[in-house]
Amino acid sequence: MNVTSTQVLFKREPQGFPTVADFDVVETKLPELAPGQFLVKGLYLSLDPYMRMLMGGGWKFRGASMAPGQVMVGRVLGEVLESKNAGFKSGELLVASLGWQTYAVSDGTDVELKVLPKDGVPLTAYLGACGSNGLSAWAGLKMIGNPKAGETVLVSAAAGSVGSAVGQIAKSMGCRAIGIAGGEEKCRLVTEEFGFDACCDYKSGDLGNQIAAAASNGVDVYFDNVGAEMLDTILPLLNKFARVPVCGVLSQYNAQGERYGVKNTRLLFDKSLRLQGFLVNQYRDLHDQGRAELEALVASGGLRYRETIASGIENAPEAFIGMLNGRNLGKQLVKLS
Ligand SMILES: NC(=O)c1ccc[n+]([C@@H]2O[C@H](COP(=O)([O-])OP(=O)(O)OC[C@H]3O[C@@H](n4cnc5c(N)ncnc54)[C@H](OP(=O)(O)O)[C@@H]3O)[C@@H](O)[C@H]2O)c1
Repeated sequence: MNVTSTQVLFKREPQGFPTVADFDVVETKLPELAPGQFLVKGLYLSLDPYMRMLMGGGWKFRGASMAPGQVMVGRVLGEVLESKNAGFKSGELLVASLGWQTYAVSDGTDVELKVLPKDGVPLTAYLGACGSNGLSAWAGLKMIGNPKAGETVLVSAAAGSVGSAVGQIAKSMGCRAIGIAGGEEKCRLVTEEFGFDACCDYKSGDLGNQIAAAASNGVDVYFDNVGAEMLDTILPLLNKFARVPVCGVLSQYNAQGERYGVKNTRLLFDKSLRLQGFLVNQYRDLHDQGRAELEALVASGGLRYRETIASGIENAPEAFIGMLNGRNLGKQLVKLS
């Protein structure tokens, strides 16, 4: 085996938003396979907001952060090329945490899923709508949001991978779905392509009034991807006994200095609200069930998604920075080969 992997390394903690200078791109010759190991060729890399937390700034993600010089953490859809592990055969497709690199040696412990292609489900969906993004939407909405038919579900970052799935799953459950996204183009995508009933543009001012107009019966579930000031704006618009699955805090990942403190917390008491953070892996025992539902929705056209695909591992830092700045439409991927 004589394989060189192009890798993106974490170089240093960004000050606010990352820049390309916070990453290094290197060529590394991979070691020969030891017994139990196999070689994976990366096809697509998933870029996700949690990676910013691993780059520091007071954040830890599942108790961890990256060390300078480490290959950037990330999920890859890849193909097994060569194997000395009886559990993984050449030609098999999998999703694994192999990092930002074109080839990787694995022992199987970083594999999340063997991908068995299904009719009507494109392979890249296993990094998005049928992967951890779709599962986050599915688990957060169903297990914490628990919406009933006829209720109103509001979701932020609605043009993104998680948010677009939340609204469509809510629609499939007979709910009214309202999105929040940045800019006219994204709001059009949310209503016209993803089928939400309405979308509010948080960049065009007075978000509270926009939501109040779109949700004339109030909001029963707010699926929160953003946190902070947006959450404060929405708390007064929630109905009594509303549920708030907290999936992420996008507005805070690149923030510096003192973090925004939510002010309207008395409404949790006044309205008997339930606000609960979660990680998709806390619902691991339900992933097979959730994935099967998501695959069926994708195959039937009931769950549509968009992908923004950068080309080449060397362009991953720029694509990641773009995603954190909202330049992606839907799932941000990098085509590796
Ligand atoms: N809990 C879990 O296990 C889990 C798993 C996966 C993802 N997540 C979370 O789910 C959320 C969505 O992730 P994703 O992968 O689907 O990303 P995404 O929505 O595809 O991409 C990020 C989007 O966030 C929006 N955004 C960025 N800064 C913002 C700000 N300050 N205020 C409002 N919107 C902002 C931008 O859209 P606009 O142009 O519309 O602003 C950008 O396109 C994130 O919070 C992520 O951390 C959680």
